[in-house]
Amino acid sequence: MRHLIDPTDLTIEEIDLLMNRALDIIARPKDYAESCHGKKLATLFYEPSTRTRLSFTSAMMELGGQVLGFSDARSSSVSKGETVADTVRVVSCFADIIAMRHYKEGAPRVAADYSRIPVINAGDGGHSHPTQTLTDLLTIRREIGHFDRLTIGLCGDLKYGRTVHSLIKAMNRYEGTRFVLISPQELRLPDYMKQELEKDGQKNFVEVSTLEEAMPLVDVLYMTRVQQERFADQQEYERLKDSFILDEAKMALARKDMIVLHPLPRVNEITIGVDNDPRAAYFRQVENGKFVRMALIYTLLQWKKETNRSNRECVCAEEKSLGCPNDRCITATEPVRHLAYRDNDGILRCYYCDHAI
Ligand code: NCD
Repeated sequence: MRHLIDPTDLTIEEIDLLMNRALDIIARPKDYAESCHGKKLATLFYEPSTRTRLSFTSAMMELGGQVLGFSDARSSSVSKGETVADTVRVVSCFADIIAMRHYKEGAPRVAADYSRIPVINAGDGGHSHPTQTLTDLLTIRREIGHFDRLTIGLCGDLKYGRTVHSLIKAMNRYEGTRFVLISPQELRLPDYMKQELEKDGQKNFVEVSTLEEAMPLVDVLYMTRVQQERFADQQEYERLKDSFILDEAKMALARKDMIVLHPLPRVNEITIGVDNDPRAAYFRQVENGKFVRMALIYTLLQWKKETNRSNRECVCAEEKSLGCPNDRCITATEPVRHLAYRDNDGILRCYYCDHAI
């Protein structure tokens, strides 16, 4: 059985396989219309979501399957104090596959460890969002045609933006990828992510302070909203929310063959005047999200009999001092075993949320 918790749970070859499956679904939708007949997807959404949950629901319906679940933790047993581990043990009896969104970082990893059916991470706190990344990759594949030697501009909330973190992890594995980071000082990419972008003392990213500097450089511009719900201080949010706004004047500085992506929802970081520009791919991206989730559900159900590969060498961090210091981590609120792994630089990190211990 295989889960999708982090984009690197999939090899590059497996990502290609999913992309090709999605393209086949687009070309021959009728051939897949009954392919998940009799199967059930459980959507366990502990955090608000419109497009991701509806995208999963519509994907399963188009495969001929059915969907059950909750979209608000208050309407589930969580409000009675049930743990993620117990909830997935129970749901494993009712469904064939789970899509989970949780406000705690690492919660889907806990779910995968206790589930008898495949678990898909549909977004955990400010940490990771692998199915948005598959959506982004399918869009790049359809719009640009390949993943090699691309310069990706990432703009907005690079600190809390989980879609950014997952996209970096995925794109960093391709030949010659370069990143241009555009964010306010306070919302810069976390150190653990920057370390991913430094190999043998060589950085494959630059940080710039204006969108104008970035525009001529990029093949893909990935815009994000400032993640209001992750701010403890709302005044700080108000101060930072208008930091970078993409408009038609800035688009005029960009290459003719570049594309603009956005995971949506948009607040005000792209003016509506940009929507009519053929390079604005963010609404085409939404539709790709449904196709790639169809490919993922179809494939994980086929892989169900395989064992899950983990690319992490885990050590049990039994000493109390080795507990995860991240208060947004699932280990801060639920009684899960503290586990850690060593990254490529030998730094001990939380197995669930990747924070340095
Ligand atoms: C993103 C998310 O939930 O992280 N939305 C989505 O899944 N399409 C981006 C966001 O909320 O800003």
